[in-house]
Amino acid sequence: MRVSTSDTTGKRKGTASNDIFEKCRNFTRPSDLQSAGLYMYFEVFGDREGCGAGEVRMGQRKVLMFGSNDYLDLITHPKVKEAAVQAIKKYGSGCSGSRLLNGTLDLHVKLEAELAALVHKEAAITFGTGFQANYATLSALTEKGDVMICDHNLHASLVEGALRSPARTVRFRHNDMEHFERCLENCPPDEKIFIVSEGVFSMEGDIADLRGIMKLAKPYGARTYVDEAHGIGVLGPTGAGAAEHLGVLDEVDIVMGTFSKSLASVGGFIAGERAVVDYLKHTARPFVFSASLPPASVAAVAASLQIMKKEPERRLHLLRIAQLLREELRSRGFKVLPGETAIVPVVIQQELDLCRLCKRLLEEGIYINPVLRPAAAQNLLRISCTAAHTEKHVDRLITTLVKVAAELDIER
Ligand SMILES: Cc1ncc(COP(=O)(O)O)c(C=O)c1O
Repeated sequence: MRVSTSDTTGKRKGTASNDIFEKCRNFTRPSDLQSAGLYMYFEVFGDREGCGAGEVRMGQRKVLMFGSNDYLDLITHPKVKEAAVQAIKKYGSGCSGSRLLNGTLDLHVKLEAELAALVHKEAAITFGTGFQANYATLSALTEKGDVMICDHNLHASLVEGALRSPARTVRFRHNDMEHFERCLENCPPDEKIFIVSEGVFSMEGDIADLRGIMKLAKPYGARTYVDEAHGIGVLGPTGAGAAEHLGVLDEVDIVMGTFSKSLASVGGFIAGERAVVDYLKHTARPFVFSASLPPASVAAVAASLQIMKKEPERRLHLLRIAQLLREELRSRGFKVLPGETAIVPVVIQQELDLCRLCKRLLEEGIYINPVLRPAAAQNLLRISCTAAHTEKHVDRLITTLVKVAAELDIER
């Protein structure tokens, strides 16, 4: 608590109740979980030297990782690492400037052309993170008098973009096309409509009904935006995402993707009509007023894209492993949400059970992310599969999970 400095001059005193930091000192949720031995965040991982496929280091231990979004297992791929090293050697460690001014490298321009081609669009721009790509685009592209019609389960970066936008926002029930249609019908004729969805929903791992969305949106002259953070590399014949998988890629107006998942780096992009990309390049504040992606990150994405194109077997193996895991879990009575992507979410009703389960799994050498409400509609053990996983890994996960769930008496 801060001590009062003056009470005779008539000036305002500093007290605990008017100290802006007081709420931080009263924020005890993390320490409560720590005291109970259930805190699961900010675990520290070490280097990957000597680790096998699907493994990471934690202290002296090697742990089986079922919580990473490195879907194509490219983070430690020799070609990806070498591309990043060579980029540092040739270009240095950073760009020290915004893309608008001194921060555009030939590497950025080349990568943007490749990304645009991947998702069948005229042009693309890259951002420092996927979060920035969503936030910047939604807030820059919409104005007062527009309406954004959004799926209810959108990622925080899209929600923040919508909150920052002067447009009216309407949310339809998750993947519910009847409700979506009603939202469209209720828009006044002069309102410009922008529809926002994820291709693969990040927590539940299900695929958006993009066919339904495109079909209903068209007669209203609405524009569409699809976040393919968890679709790229995982779905579609060329790995372009859920829209490609569902055969509607050419109908989506703007595709967003991130480099922090299948593309083994950091950053994000959006791709669409050239005029839209040019507009964003000059008006999206998080793009204009932020430094460009460093050469090593860009080179790692470019190398990952090449591997993704040349080795579709990575994607196919990943999907097979995820499907095997879903079947094995269901046959043991676990409640797995429906889906066909790399994300395999298991419902664990009680928050405490979920924390205990993750802690015990980690003691047994398996890392999985807990997702607590309200980050998802239900508490989830969010298992993510990667191309590094094998049937043996699935066996080990199932055996351990069954043992630990029984030991903790967790309801299935
Ligand atoms: C659906 C979705 N969009 C955007 C992002 C943000 O991407 P990034 O981590 O590259 O900032 C994420 C990250 O988890 C995501 O799941």
